[in-house]
Amino acid sequence: MRILSGVQPTGKLHIGNYLGAIKQWADLQNQGECFFLIVDLHAITVPYKPEEMQKNIINTAIDYLASGIDSTKSNIFIQSKIKEHTELAWLLETITPMGELERMTQYKEKSEKSPNAGIFSYPVLMAADILLYKTNVVPVGEDQTQHVELARKLAKKFNNQFQETFPMPKAKILKTGARIMSLDDPSKKMSKTGSPQSYICLSDPPKEIEKKIKKATTDSGKEIRYEPKTKPALANLINIYHLFSNKPIKEIEGQYKNKGYAEFKKGLTETIIQGLKPIQEKRKEYEKDPEKIQKILTQGKEKAEIIARKTIREAKTKMGL
Ligand code: AQP
Repeated sequence: MRILSGVQPTGKLHIGNYLGAIKQWADLQNQGECFFLIVDLHAITVPYKPEEMQKNIINTAIDYLASGIDSTKSNIFIQSKIKEHTELAWLLETITPMGELERMTQYKEKSEKSPNAGIFSYPVLMAADILLYKTNVVPVGEDQTQHVELARKLAKKFNNQFQETFPMPKAKILKTGARIMSLDDPSKKMSKTGSPQSYICLSDPPKEIEKKIKKATTDSGKEIRYEPKTKPALANLINIYHLFSNKPIKEIEGQYKNKGYAEFKKGLTETIIQGLKPIQEKRKEYEKDPEKIQKILTQGKEKAEIIARKTIREAKTKMGL
């Protein structure tokens, strides 16, 4: 079984990226051959600072490793280093209906800020990432479901129009934690490109976490109750508490019965700090060894490239090229 996923190096990784995606990557490492990409070609579809890109790429690699991705089990590499990603994306674009891309939620959300063709065809490049390695399982946050669905449609279309080539990839989405919301607006997902108050980075020091949780939006009323419809901000905080502590939501509600927000936020802050502690300790070790990071990325690229070249040759031949 092949497993593939990626994160854009658009900034510091946050607890949404971790709880929604990366945490399950680590658990999947013993179940198949894993490919964890740093998708820099996707990251340039929105405004960015070229001088910050390399730092963001290395930081993303460090966050992967610190979160438990083991480079002896998984291939960690940078998307732009393997040219077959863009090559397959072009081949797939020729069989992608425009309407499929026009209805993508992410395109609708981001195209106003980034009116470029790259943001429009972003899902095709993601389909290419997935299909290039003949991926079976794609562990992602809920927001990526639509994109994985397109990869399935394109695999099916390619197989029908040409010859059987790609297996049908399947999104793997966690039942809880699939969507962590912004700390200052519970109607939006937590995002690297949101306001700095809206997310908690994996690398945030305890003081910063405390400050952000103190400022986090809450709902009216005093009770600590998990009611996503009527109390979405509090429900998001309880969900984060639940995911970091592994305590059932009912138990958290019981623990803070008659105690109010201040007490709950104190407990939540401590839970996040403790949850991120092992990641931050590992992070410090990796930060001291940039050569090791480069070596891991090169090794990952070399292994992935062999498969990528083989697939592209096969796809081109079947398309008559
Ligand atoms: N808030 C979230 N809750 C759960 N999962 C999330 N993911 C992202 N945000 C949340 C998952 O993290 C993986 C990597 O995401 P990405 O960086 O490739 O793109 P994104 O979804 O656009 O993430 P951001 O943080 O919102 O980045 P920007 O601000 O650059 O757009 C994916 O599996 C995603 O589902």
